[in-house]
Amino acid sequence: MDAAPLIEMIDIQKVYEMGDTQVRANDGITLKIHQGEFVAIVGKSGSGKSTLMNIIGALDTPTSGKYILNGQDVSKMKGDYLAEIRNKMIGFVFQQYNLLPKQNLLENVSLPLLYAGMSEGKRKKRALEVLEKVGIGDKWRNQPNQLSGGQQQRVSIARALAGRPSLILADEPTGALDSRTSREVLDLLKELNREGNTIILITHDNSIAAEAKRVVRIMDGKITFDGKVENYKATIKEGEEEHEPDTGI
Ligand SMILES: Nc1ncnc2c1ncn2[C@@H]1O[C@H](COP(=O)(O)OP(=O)(O)OP(=O)(O)O)[C@@H](O)[C@H]1O
Ligand SMILES: [Mg+2]
Repeated sequence: MDAAPLIEMIDIQKVYEMGDTQVRANDGITLKIHQGEFVAIVGKSGSGKSTLMNIIGALDTPTSGKYILNGQDVSKMKGDYLAEIRNKMIGFVFQQYNLLPKQNLLENVSLPLLYAGMSEGKRKKRALEVLEKVGIGDKWRNQPNQLSGGQQQRVSIARALAGRPSLILADEPTGALDSRTSREVLDLLKELNREGNTIILITHDNSIAAEAKRVVRIMDGKITFDGKVENYKATIKEGEEEHEPDTGI
């Protein structure tokens, strides 16, 4: 691919100081991701996935190294600038949905658009459009607790999509779902990718990573595999990491 990458990370280090000891949570991550990719970042507990996600998602900045997001150097940005990048460019999906319990689905999905300065009419129209896209447009008046887990995750995906972000960042999005519902959510993410959305999926589970097109595996803060999913599957078959426990509840 010749186009400039959406994400370019060069030798990213994130070091946490814990008293006398240092934890190198990310230890020299170099990575390029282009628009339209569907990448799984996979690794065991404590390998540095969330640390990396926080940097990619402009929730945190690295100790050293360079992070370019859509042509902008985010590595040393602070506070409000970082928040602006985050709001404009990234749609987040978390394991625990993070929906507002007292607001209906339409309100939940349209709220981030308010921060983006969109008029009320446009917000409602867009929110309904993305709720329909994820297959729950008819439930727009419901509150989150009136939905199943899978449906709640669809709402959070709709919310992530609403502002037309450059990137959807999903951290263990199926972690709280049963296998059938997980399947549906993964299929939805695949469909959104086919329609051109760039997706980064973070997971500890190889079988979920295998749904992406490209896999980046991290161990002890370092990338130990980066390539096509087919090649990743071949490495799993050879042994080592095959049986990571599925801690989904
Ligand atoms: N705020 C922090 N202060 C100190 N150490 C931290 C902090 N956050 C993470 N760490 C350490 O950095 C390492 C990587 O943590 P991280 O949360 O990125 O792992 P992870 O891959 O997301 O794990 P999990 O799958 O359990 O969520 C761990 O050793 C962790 O203890
Ligand atoms: Mg984590």
